Formats: sequence, structure tokens, C-alpha cells
Amino acid sequence: MLWECITLLRDRGSRQARRFGHDREAVAIAARHRRCRAAWEPHLEAAKNLVLTAADTAPGRDTAVILGSGLCLDVPVEELCARFRRVLLVDVHHPRPARKLARNHPKLRLITADVTGMGETVARAAAAGRPLPDPTSPPEPLPGLRADFTISLNLASQLPIPFYKVLDGRVPAEALKRFGRGLIEAHFAWLEGLPGRVGLVCDRMWEEVDGDGAVVESRDALEGARPPVPDRAWIWDIAPRPEESHCYDRRNHVWGYLDFTAARRGTRAVGAGPQGT
Ligand SMILES: C[S@@+](CC[C@H](N)C(=O)[O-])C[C@H]1O[C@@H](n2cnc3c(N)ncnc32)[C@H](O)[C@@H]1O
Repeated sequence: MLWECITLLRDRGSRQARRFGHDREAVAIAARHRRCRAAWEPHLEAAKNLVLTAADTAPGRDTAVILGSGLCLDVPVEELCARFRRVLLVDVHHPRPARKLARNHPKLRLITADVTGMGETVARAAAAGRPLPDPTSPPEPLPGLRADFTISLNLASQLPIPFYKVLDGRVPAEALKRFGRGLIEAHFAWLEGLPGRVGLVCDRMWEEVDGDGAVVESRDALEGARPPVPDRAWIWDIAPRPEESHCYDRRNHVWGYLDFTAARRGTRAVGAGPQGT
């Protein structure tokens, strides 16, 4: 806890990152990773493996874009830099470890952007007591950027959460949930329309599992948004006992796509389909 407080004090984010708690969340993820490093390793390896397999099918070698890069725990930085002329890390908040990586890798660039395009508008609407904007027609988050490879990396399920923190109690629960689902659906639609190869890794389901292996609680991580059948699926043991509780382990079902556009359009290669790793 002390480590988290000191780290946060030394790494506060922009006004928006502070308002929505992105800087605090980055510190919490780093702290949990320190505590659960071994349990997270298979997930991080599976995510990196998917990133590189998808990147290898990109039509060009100029620009790769990582959406939701955060601490870069699941980003195979060296390997991507070896494959592309430049690698753009996109996040609403780049914590200190990502800034350090970018200083040491001439091919890495940091882009600070809210990929929902909704943060400022929602904050203003909430302050003025106005209804929430329509999340399904957001402004273009990265105007003018054409990448050979883009991947949304452990980001989709996280998109609504900062909004929930700010809007909880100010907006009816059903409207908030609809808004969250709209954010995720808009993200999927935006990804589908991007040029180049597009990959995706996202939580599909969050579960609590008791000591006998029985699922005691399970929640749709995508708020009712319906992703296509994944190319790969695996479990992320995100909080094994006693990290969050002495009674249950928390685990995430993660889905991965090597070609999200083809999966959405139902045009992927014959033989592709779900695989555990
Ligand atoms: C679960 S973390 C992803 C993990 C990250 N790839 C890593 O290895 O550390 C989710 C990331 O999404 C970012 N994020 C959340 N909402 C965002 C938004 N609207 N726009 C851009 N990034 C966002 C967070 O700041 C965080 O870094």
C-alpha cells in the first residue's frame, strides 16, 4: 500500500487521467503484477504470442499501433520494434515504466489519447446534469493515422470502468450499463473499419471460483456486447487466493483474435477458430 501511494504521488496523470482514475489504476495494476507475477505469466505470454502472430500477417512493415499499452506488460516491445519502422503506444495515461521504455527505444512513440473519444464530453455532461452522449457515434480517436497493424490489447472490457467510477449514482444504473455496452460496441466497430491487420485481446468473462473449483460468481466483461467467435481463448488467473479474498480465486476468460475484421465479417480463413494456448 505504501509502495502504491508513493508511486502514485510520483506519477500523477493529466487532468483527465486523474479525474477518471487512470493513473491510480496503472499503479494498482503494477502492484498486483508484483504480487501475482507467476500467476499472470501464462496470460502475458499468450497475449504476446497472439500479438506477434497477428503482426506477422500485417500487409506492411511501417507502423504498428498498440491500443491500451499501459505498463506494456503484455506488449512484446523488442520483437515489434524489430518488425516495424515505428511502434505507437496509445493509452489515455502512460505510466512511468512505459515512458522509460519509450526513452530507450527510438522506434517507440507514445500517443496519449482516449480511444472512446468520450471522456471530456461525458465529464462536461455529468457536471451540467445533462444526459449522456451517444457512445456509438464517437469522434475519430486517432485522426489521420494509417497503420499496417493495430491491436486492442486487454482494453475493451476496461473502457466503461472509468466512466462508471465518475457517473455512478448520477445516472440510472440501466442507462449506465447501456452506455458501457455502447462504448465497447463502438470500439469493435471502429476496429473493424481500420486499414491493415487488426487484432484484439479482451476479457470475455470475469469469474470467482471457490476452493473446490466451483464458479460462485460470473460476470459478462463486455456488458452484453457480442464479440465474434475468437481464434484463441485462455484463462488469466488475475487474483489467486489470498490476493482478493481467502475464499475465492478471481479469474478472467480472455478471447483473442488474429484478424478481428475477418472474424466480425465472417470471412476468416477456413480452419481458423477457437484454440486454447
Ligand atoms: C488492463 S490495462 C491493459 C494492460 C496493458 N496492455 C499492460 O500490459 O499493462 C487497460 C489499459 O487501458 C487504458 N485505457 C482505459 N480506458 C482507455 C481509453 N478510453 N483510451 C485509451 N486507453 C484506455 C488504461 O489506461 C490501461 O493502461
